[in-house]
Amino acid sequence: PQGVDFQAENATIRNGRIESNHAGFTGSGFVDYDNEVGSSVEWTVTALATTSVNVVFRYTNASSENRPMDITVNGIKTASVNFPPTNGWEDWRTLTIRVNLLAGTSKIRATATTSNGGPNVDKITV
Ligand code: GCU
Ligand code: CA
Repeated sequence: PQGVDFQAENATIRNGRIESNHAGFTGSGFVDYDNEVGSSVEWTVTALATTSVNVVFRYTNASSENRPMDITVNGIKTASVNFPPTNGWEDWRTLTIRVNLLAGTSKIRATATTSNGGPNVDKITV
């Protein structure tokens, strides 16, 4: 895929809620991760061939600390990403990582690793 949006509100959410109380999201809302270790969002994407892709996270983090998350692809940890503070919960920004996908279906999961939970996440673009 290239440049395809996958909304967080359509993904598999564990310990988080779909919200729409902070403007600027795309689609019908965003995911508010519960503020705890292990809260996660998992997207399913399909690749025609084994390939390396950019995964662009659109997020906000109005706290004063990074909100780190582990990124797994089909259960295998591929990155630890710090989502830095933004200028309020409506200041949506992007953060891009490079991920290897095998041909076929891949599950990309972003899991909070601190008790602050993840940032608010609008979508990924792959
Ligand atoms: C506030 C904000 C939420 C956010 C939360 C947090 O409650 O309204 O959107 O998710 O802070 O700190 O995680
Ligand atoms: Ca939260």
